[in-house]
Amino acid sequence: MGRRGCRRSNLKGKLMDIITSTAIIPLLCGCVGIFGLFKLLQRIRMKAYIQDSVVVITGATSGLGKECAKVFHAAGAKLVLCGRNRERLEELVRELTTNQPKKTHKPHIVTFDLADSNTVVQAAAEILKCVGYVDILINNAGISYRGTIIDTTVDVDKMVMETNYFGPVALTKAILPSMIQKRQGHIVVISSIQGKISIPFRSAYAASKHATQAFFDCLRAEMEQYEIDVTVVSPGYIRTNLSLNAVTADGSRYGVMDKTTSEGRNAAEVAQEVLSAVGKKKKEVVVASLIPCLAVYLRTLSPRLFFKFMAGRARAERKSKAS
Ligand SMILES: NC(=O)c1ccc[n+]([C@@H]2O[C@H](COP(=O)([O-])OP(=O)(O)OC[C@H]3O[C@@H](n4cnc5c(N)ncnc54)[C@H](OP(=O)(O)O)[C@@H]3O)[C@@H](O)[C@H]2O)c1
Repeated sequence: MGRRGCRRSNLKGKLMDIITSTAIIPLLCGCVGIFGLFKLLQRIRMKAYIQDSVVVITGATSGLGKECAKVFHAAGAKLVLCGRNRERLEELVRELTTNQPKKTHKPHIVTFDLADSNTVVQAAAEILKCVGYVDILINNAGISYRGTIIDTTVDVDKMVMETNYFGPVALTKAILPSMIQKRQGHIVVISSIQGKISIPFRSAYAASKHATQAFFDCLRAEMEQYEIDVTVVSPGYIRTNLSLNAVTADGSRYGVMDKTTSEGRNAAEVAQEVLSAVGKKKKEVVVASLIPCLAVYLRTLSPRLFFKFMAGRARAERKSKAS
């Protein structure tokens, strides 16, 4: 071994001495231990928060709502499942209550159309009559849209707005007084990454989700005095029936499973993220891949570049439809 090799091995030895003789290793072990303990306490607190809580989920017949029903039920919540189709909700209750290894609560069902503000208020009264109070309201139900602004009737814009914006707003307003009285409650809304950025040919949907984001941001600030929490969840694409059920410019069903939707995140995984965000009382959570997250920043930091990209996207989509 040459002199250089000898010096290097001396240096290595000294370095090891420093590491072992100083407090680095015990310090590292301590940090890992504290982190582990913090995570454990967080999990215990989350479990206690959800267990036996009354959780209302809209749009529980399909997709993300159905998966949320499964994870919140498994976490011990007392569920009220909402949707328009009673049969599908009954089927879900059967699925949830059959072969449950641990003790869980049998869910209640309340059916109503979110696009009809009067039935929403009646439904809220039915929910409160049925379970007494609501701990967590998950405004999940929604409808998507595909079309050009120029061809879309205002009735379609209104319908999407009624379902995605006025419906959740009416339900939240009807449930809030009981939460304020108790000085306890949690309002959750499933918005979308399209509540932060607007994509061409989705005008009505993006507008309804932007309005949702704005309303629930205001609500969060106003409800702080009553200790009522507000969580806005903004997912990217999720593999559900959303594009199949979307409405088109003339109000008819789109009926196509878009590639972006079929390649989206698994709904069960997203539901776990919703459970975790609610359990941690997060104010806002974006559940999307890197590109949509970067697009949100680009919209704020360089709007001109963002608009250029969106115009390009519109051109490309028009071209692919024409061919
Ligand atoms: N999938 C995605 O890529 C994606 C991405 C971001 C955000 N989101 C949001 O996630 C939420 C859930 O959508 P999803 O993806 O699970 O779609 P989905 O499979 O089509 O489910 C939509 C749910 O909303 C209900 N709903 C629709 N219109 C209603 C109305 N007028 N009254 C009452 N309930 C109504 C449906 O119930 P019925 O059985 O009565 O039709 C269904 O349970 C929506 O708010 C959506 O905007 C989805």
